[in-house]
Amino acid sequence: MAENDNGKVRILAFLCNWCSYAGADLAGVSRLQYPPNVLDIRVMCTGTISPYHIIKAFQMGIDGVLIAGCHIGDCHYIKGNYMTYKRFQVMRDVMKFVGIDEDRLRLEWVSAAEGEKFADVIKGFTEQVEKAGPSPLRSGWEKDPANWESIRNAFKPLETRKPA
Ligand code: FES
Repeated sequence: MAENDNGKVRILAFLCNWCSYAGADLAGVSRLQYPPNVLDIRVMCTGTISPYHIIKAFQMGIDGVLIAGCHIGDCHYIKGNYMTYKRFQVMRDVMKFVGIDEDRLRLEWVSAAEGEKFADVIKGFTEQVEKAGPSPLRSGWEKDPANWESIRNAFKPLETRKPA
């Protein structure tokens, strides 16, 4: 995926290694078109993503956060995606509370076989975030926004972490 943002809205996508990351790969090899302004972070399970990571992404100048994981019942760690679903509901309320449009956060279940769904999710979410415009938390970063590499490095520990 893209390594720079070309001045457009920036999406961070946390993708579960076992399903959505492979779905993204399938979309790529199938040459399905989707917007390039997405930084993908591979995680071992969506259950490893905490509210801290979501807030951190917005603090680093991200305009929309997508979490994509295994369908309910398919999580390799059994209940990781149930935890994700509960945290997602809480996070939307927290975002509303601090004045960030809660629709800047999306949760989707995408399997390894669903390349087309992955491309559609990225397209739909990008359009939604574009309509909302840059995140209000981004204003302080405009002159010197965090680049893709520093954002990727900030979330590197998630590449190997397993849900507790
Ligand atoms: Fe994919 Fe848990 S292993 S969501």
